[in-house]
Amino acid sequence: MTNSLRALAWLLALPLHDALAGEVEMLHWWTSPGEQAAFAVVTTQLQGAGVELKNAAILGGGGNSAMEVLQARAIAGNPPALAQLEGQAIASWTLLGFIQPQDEVAGEQEWDRQLLGVAPRVNKIGGHYMGIPGNVHRLNWMWVNRALLARLDMDPPTDWPGFLDAVRALRAKGIKPLALGNDPWQVALLFESLALGMGGKEYYQKAFVELDPVALGSDTSRQILDRFRELSELVLPTLSGQSWDQATADLAEGRAAFQLMGDWVLGDLLARGVAVPEQVQCLPAPGTQGLYVYNMDSFVMFNANLPKDHLTIARALASPDFQLAFNRANGSIPVRRELSLADFNPCAQLSRIDYDRAEAAGNLMPSVADSMALHPLYQKAVESELYRFFNQPDLDREGVIRRLGAVARSASSTSIEARLR
Ligand code: GAL
Repeated sequence: MTNSLRALAWLLALPLHDALAGEVEMLHWWTSPGEQAAFAVVTTQLQGAGVELKNAAILGGGGNSAMEVLQARAIAGNPPALAQLEGQAIASWTLLGFIQPQDEVAGEQEWDRQLLGVAPRVNKIGGHYMGIPGNVHRLNWMWVNRALLARLDMDPPTDWPGFLDAVRALRAKGIKPLALGNDPWQVALLFESLALGMGGKEYYQKAFVELDPVALGSDTSRQILDRFRELSELVLPTLSGQSWDQATADLAEGRAAFQLMGDWVLGDLLARGVAVPEQVQCLPAPGTQGLYVYNMDSFVMFNANLPKDHLTIARALASPDFQLAFNRANGSIPVRRELSLADFNPCAQLSRIDYDRAEAAGNLMPSVADSMALHPLYQKAVESELYRFFNQPDLDREGVIRRLGAVARSASSTSIEARLR
């Protein structure tokens, strides 16, 4: 059964308004070991504030299935009180009038001044905080199984030609190079690191954040797609449809050498008792040194089921102690600028250092594959083009460029963002 079918089956089995009186239901997709540990922190924090949380977890990394369930429930008039949302989806739900502004607590706690700069950028829509910022994830990480590489006397690659050489060498030795599930979201994340690492920040910004037809139709796009094809031909025979966290288990247990994926991998490695960075090392994705691709999870409240104690909930989720415990489990970094990461894992500490440097240098890049840059509609269209190209060796790169150009044209003619910002 696909994740969407599973999600639909779950939805149909759900009696309307089934949260017990006093319970606050939260919909999210934190289901891997590290994510569950992070969600347990949410539950405990809210319990401490006198709020019982009902867990509405929907399987599926990146949240595609969770978002389908959320839409269906909202249309049926039964949204959860709380949901995990990301970036552009917050803007869409705001436009539809479904979610509750958080300005009161944002004002009290001076979020504009206290939070990292990406927090207002992602959560403030039309001047109002519509989400409670939960974390900042870094996406352009390359996770490396050190023992595997050491056995082959191989240094971790720092650019894409080097990465492809490493992949070839690993394949020749019968070792699976990439811990990757062949699913559209994971493949799109891989492409995102490739596009940024090969094309650089101006190209990435123009082509995939602004969907500029000239950048999309450029020779840089052709070179990137050619590399993507080369990579897919090398790794496809080794891939299955596994989830990102099953892929992380492969990496941790020495069945695969690299994983190109966000720092929720760190949360999972720690939950599995893996020593990081001793066993699995974190390095910037090839060619992306100095750049920081971010996404961020936010907590939003649906006004159709707004809990009476919604201010208590918002205060609890934005508090410093929650931010520390939640992000330590999640592999991400806290959104509050002043918090010390002294007892965080070294990879998270490095993420914070790199964040600050990238912010100062204008090198913070929104993730395209993980909902920070494009409206969900266009994000899905781009993702499905890339996924098809990755899986169908006979698909011509010019066709992909043409179809991405068509997505860009329809994005500029509808421009939902312009109505919101
Ligand atoms: C991202 C989310 C992360 C993590 C990841 C894998 O979209 O921001 O918190 O959950 O998906 O499921």
